[in-house]
Amino acid sequence: IPVDPFDLVIFGGTGDLARRKILPALFHRFHAGQMPAEARVIGAARGEMSTEDFRAFAAEALDEFAPGQDRVWVDEFLQRLDYVTVDARGEDGWGDLGEKLRPDVVRAFYFSVAPALFADIAERLSQHGLTDATSRIVVEKPFGKNLETARALNRTMASYFDESQIYRIDHYLGKETVQNLMAIRFGNMLFEPLWNSQFVDHIQITVAETVGVGGRGEYYDTSGAMRDMVQNHLMQLLCLIAMEPPAKFDPDAVRDEKLKVIRALDPVPPHHIVRGQYEELEDDEGRHPSYREAVGNPRSRTESYVALRTTISNWRWAGTPFYLRTGKRLKARSSVINVMFKPMPHSIFGTEAGEHQNTLSIRLQPNEGITLGVTIKEPGPGGMRLIDVPLDMTFAEALGPDGHHADAYERLIMDVIRGNQTLFMRGDEVEAAWAWTDPIIEGWESRNDVPKGYASGSAGPADAELLLRRNGREWRGINP
Ligand code: BG6
Repeated sequence: IPVDPFDLVIFGGTGDLARRKILPALFHRFHAGQMPAEARVIGAARGEMSTEDFRAFAAEALDEFAPGQDRVWVDEFLQRLDYVTVDARGEDGWGDLGEKLRPDVVRAFYFSVAPALFADIAERLSQHGLTDATSRIVVEKPFGKNLETARALNRTMASYFDESQIYRIDHYLGKETVQNLMAIRFGNMLFEPLWNSQFVDHIQITVAETVGVGGRGEYYDTSGAMRDMVQNHLMQLLCLIAMEPPAKFDPDAVRDEKLKVIRALDPVPPHHIVRGQYEELEDDEGRHPSYREAVGNPRSRTESYVALRTTISNWRWAGTPFYLRTGKRLKARSSVINVMFKPMPHSIFGTEAGEHQNTLSIRLQPNEGITLGVTIKEPGPGGMRLIDVPLDMTFAEALGPDGHHADAYERLIMDVIRGNQTLFMRGDEVEAAWAWTDPIIEGWESRNDVPKGYASGSAGPADAELLLRRNGREWRGINP
């Protein structure tokens, strides 16, 4: 079903995110018939550029990030693009932008620029009367770098826009499989009765990447894995796994429940966290630089890996630890959530009761699917011996390959146009997440903590294994 006609202005329209994600996502939605022919996408940036140049820029972006498309479709899409030169910090171009905007269509402004420019752009938009109560603002992470800066940013935005107009993106929420977490939990009778500390021993959330920091060293070295991944993506996964069932699938009902989880998180003591930094690697493909080399800072103390154990002080989860880990240059790309159920209280088969444990693995990427680990009788006449086997479901097999697999940005941008904030972070949620991560990061800074080195291509620092092993547990997912 097509969304309503819209004017989408992308500030930073010639930037990296526009090239890699926003323009390809819009093209796919156009091709799918969801972006209507009357829609307009207006690139806005400081550089002098004609609309033709911007279309050529977009065509190249599509060649690279949505390759193999039919020319006719691409040309049709490019006709929907326009460009305007604007100076975020000056007066130039705002009048031109105003002339391009049409009345009576949905109006959205995508702030795909450095957060330092948010306030300037918001102020100019409002000074020039380019927004009204129905306009939408889309902002990318990083949303602040601690509680104080996030609050300041929220206050600035609030002086120009209502919360209902602000769409804070966490692209993990746009991933099909992440939304599926809610479907699995709240669309089945099977799991929810067991989804608490009485039956769940612990939960593991892993987001492992094989990539390094690449060309983003300058940003990353002032951020680190805690700010770059844990404060947002991993926290969102934790919320979806741990939250109470919302009464309805509506924006505030869902976000209220997520907020309660974040607010119930306990502080994490230093001995429940492992930080790591990757070292150089020599393999068949040649030499891969160490983290410090990649960011050009030989004494960097920024972590490219974090593993931690946290607990949630509420009725449902008291006593069930949640283990979170994420890192770069690891042995495999694997985002997976493992729900580890408690062992049986008693075995009638003479095996140790603690030997077998049901597990539910939800693979977010790649090879999306669900595996339920169940215990059965080992086949054969050898008596009643038990083994664990997987009940395995891979989405691609179960649902069939549906050709193009929608990217997170496709879903999220269309939700902006539809005016649905369910998959976007509310201001108080972002602040609560910083309130939990701030003391952890401040602790590292005050102790001058040095991250542990780990081999590129490994499962991370050895200490991360100990974090679980001291309670007789072990990581599942990317381990040897
Ligand atoms: C981004 C982080 O938000 O998410 C990156 O800034 C990270 O460092 C990326 O690589 C991971 O996203 P995805 O979709 O590839 O899992």
